[in-house]
Amino acid sequence: MGAVADNKALTMPDHIAIIMDGNGRWAKRRNESRHKGHRQGVKTVKNIVKACIKNNVRYLTLFAFSSENWKRPRTEVGLLMDLFIAALGSEVKELDENGVQLRFIGDRNHIPADVQRAMEDAETRTAANDTLVLIIAVSYGGRWDIMQAAQRLAEQVRAKEINVEDITEESLSENISTVNIPAPDLFIRTGGEHRISNFLLWQLAYTELYFTDTLWPDFNEMAFGRALKDYAKRQRRYGMTSEQVTSSKVTHA
Ligand code: IPE
Ligand code: IPE
Ligand code: MG
Repeated sequence: MGAVADNKALTMPDHIAIIMDGNGRWAKRRNESRHKGHRQGVKTVKNIVKACIKNNVRYLTLFAFSSENWKRPRTEVGLLMDLFIAALGSEVKELDENGVQLRFIGDRNHIPADVQRAMEDAETRTAANDTLVLIIAVSYGGRWDIMQAAQRLAEQVRAKEINVEDITEESLSENISTVNIPAPDLFIRTGGEHRISNFLLWQLAYTELYFTDTLWPDFNEMAFGRALKDYAKRQRRYGMTSEQVTSSKVTHA
């Protein structure tokens, strides 16, 4: 009954996962370079992190760069990597002071060494914080995540540490990149597209989905508040009937 016993999650999400989309279009509308849009997007990240802290959200996962984004023009990829380093350089101190723990998920092999170093430094520096866990998905793909979990389990079978029967939903979850982080309660995608774009495929199985046309650089605290309000109205049934959920709510209240 664990899933519905957590009544708190029925009103405020514990974990929010966001596809921050629309930076390029935001810039294009202003006749600016795409890079200007990405820089403006970093400002939105700062505001939404603050809003999460204010609302007692415990986990925030942001999709910053997908496995597929490597296919973008080299100059844009390079500028984005530079922007990660610059943003980490200027923001980690304040994030740390605000009790934010930074974590990165994704295939680090492809990430330039200087960016990897900046990521590791930020993780080490903020490891003891627990006000908000900010998970940034860089070079991340949901299929990659499931594949790497499968590979790790296969290795454990080969080393005779586990049997094939020990591969369960639980053991797979323990090998997925968001290990020890509860599944997202609320997923938000800005920028008007209605797709997952290879984000957290395993973890989103029972997440509430929210889509908005607002472009990421325009996504402010008010727009975020609208998403929270929409989430609070929903009934999460996890396959059960509405009556079962309501009665379990009464029992556990
Ligand atoms: C999202 O904005 C940021 C990244 C994918 C890095 P986009 O760059 O995809 O913006 P649009 O979709 O072109 O407007
Ligand atoms: C998804 O946005 C990835 C990130 C926001 C990092 P995209 O702009 O890459 O998604 P598609 O290609 O339109 O699906
Ligand atoms: Mg896009």
